[in-house]
Amino acid sequence: MTAEEQAALVQIGQTYLYPNYRQPPLVLVRGEGRRVWDAAGKSYLDLYAGIAVTALGHAHPDVVRTLREQGERLGHVANYFYNEPNVLLARDLCQRTGFARAFFCNSGTEAIEALLKLARRHYYAQGQANRYHVIAFERSFHGRTLGSLAATGQAGYREGFGPLTGVVHVPYGDVDAVAARLDDTVAAVLVEPVQGEGGVLPAPQGFLEKLRSLTSSRGALLLGDEIQTGVGRTGRFLGFEHSDVKPDAIALAKGLGGGFPIGAMLCQKHLEGALPPGSHGSTFGGNPLASAVARTVLARIDTEGLVERARLNGNYLAEAAAALGALRMFPHQLREQPRPRPAPGPRAQARYRCARRAGVTARGGRALDHRRRLGAALFPGAQHRTFRDRRGRVLRRPGAHCPRSRSLIANSLIAQSALSPNDRAAPTSWV
Ligand SMILES: Cc1ncc(COP(=O)(O)O)c(C=O)c1O
Repeated sequence: MTAEEQAALVQIGQTYLYPNYRQPPLVLVRGEGRRVWDAAGKSYLDLYAGIAVTALGHAHPDVVRTLREQGERLGHVANYFYNEPNVLLARDLCQRTGFARAFFCNSGTEAIEALLKLARRHYYAQGQANRYHVIAFERSFHGRTLGSLAATGQAGYREGFGPLTGVVHVPYGDVDAVAARLDDTVAAVLVEPVQGEGGVLPAPQGFLEKLRSLTSSRGALLLGDEIQTGVGRTGRFLGFEHSDVKPDAIALAKGLGGGFPIGAMLCQKHLEGALPPGSHGSTFGGNPLASAVARTVLARIDTEGLVERARLNGNYLAEAAAALGALRMFPHQLREQPRPRPAPGPRAQARYRCARRAGVTARGGRALDHRRRLGAALFPGAQHRTFRDRRGRVLRRPGAHCPRSRSLIANSLIAQSALSPNDRAAPTSWV
C-alpha cells in the first residue's frame, strides 16, 4: 500500500469513526512480536502494547493457532451451557491465584462492574441494603462505564457524565482518610495495587495491609483492580502478591487475552452466593474463543517465564532510568510515597500542546506524558530530534523532550515495553 492509499484510509476513519479518539495519521495493518507496521510499510517499535494488552507480543504463533483451532471447533455458545475452554480457564485462574470462583466478561470496565455489583448484592443478601457505598482513591482509573466511572478518581474522565454517585474518593495511600469514611454504609474499598493512570504509583509500604485489616474489622470488602497490574506485569502474577494481602475479589482484563477481549472477576468462596443465577451475566463473557486464547496466554507466560522476565526487565528499566537521570523527571513514578503533583507549568503545558498538535497523545493523561518522557529518556536519540507537527512545522527545537511525531510508538508507554515478552529480538541486557 502506498502512502497515498494510507492517507485515503485515514480520511475514511476521520470521516466515519466517532471522533472520541485523537489518532495520528497512520493505519496499523500488521504486527509481529514487538513491532507493528503501518499501511505504507513503515515499522514501529510498539511500546504501547495495546495499552498493557499484548502480553505475548503481536501475532504470537500459539495465539494464532489457538484462534484457528478453537474457531473451527466452537466459536461461541450461550452461557446457558458450559464450554470446555471456559471451565478449564476458570480452574486455571482459580488455582493460580487462590480465588474460588471466576466470572467472565469482555473488558476491564465490565470486570469492575462485576466487582461493584458483587459487593452491593452481597450485603443486600445479608439484609444490609443500605451498605452500598464504595471508597475508591483519587487519581485512580477503573473504567468508563457509569459504575466504574463513578469509581474513577479523576475529574477529567468524569466531567459531564454526572451524577456519578455511590463512591467516595480519598487520597491514595491515606489510611486515616479511609478509616474516617469507612462506616456501616460502605460495602467495599476498591484499590489498584499500583495506580496506573495517576502516574504509575505503587501502593505505599503497608497501605494494602492496613486496608485489609480495616475492611475486615469493619465488615466491608476489599476489592482489587488488577486490570493493569495483573497477568504478570509487575513481576508477580498479581500486583497484590507483592504484599501478603488477599482481596475478597479482583478484576482482571487487558493482558489476560493477549489482545483478544476478555475480562474476569475472581472472588473468594464466601462471595460465591452473592450473585445468584439471573442476577448478573454477559452474552459474550466466557466465550470459547476468548477462553481458549487466555489459556494459551497463561501457558506461554509459564513456559517462557514471562513473570520473572517482567520483574528483571522492570529492574533493568528502573536502573536505566536512574542512570539517565529520569528519576529527576519522574519523581512521582519512582517514589514510594505519592506526593501531590503541582499543576503543570508553562513548559509542561507547551509540551502537552505540541504533543497534541502532532497527534501523539494516546490517552491524553498526564501519566502517559510522564511515561512518554521516560521513553524519550531511554531512547536518548529521540530527545535530540526536531519535533514537527503534521504539516511539518517545527514545534520544538532539538534537545527538547518532545519526541518526533513519527517516533510516537517508540516513545510512548515504556512501562509496558518492560513487559514486551515476545520480543524475540530483545537485547540480552534487557533480560
Ligand atoms: C486499572 C484499570 N482499571 C480498569 C480499566 C478499564 O479497562 P477497559 O478499558 O478494558 O474497560 C483500565 C484501562 O486502562 C485500567 O487501567
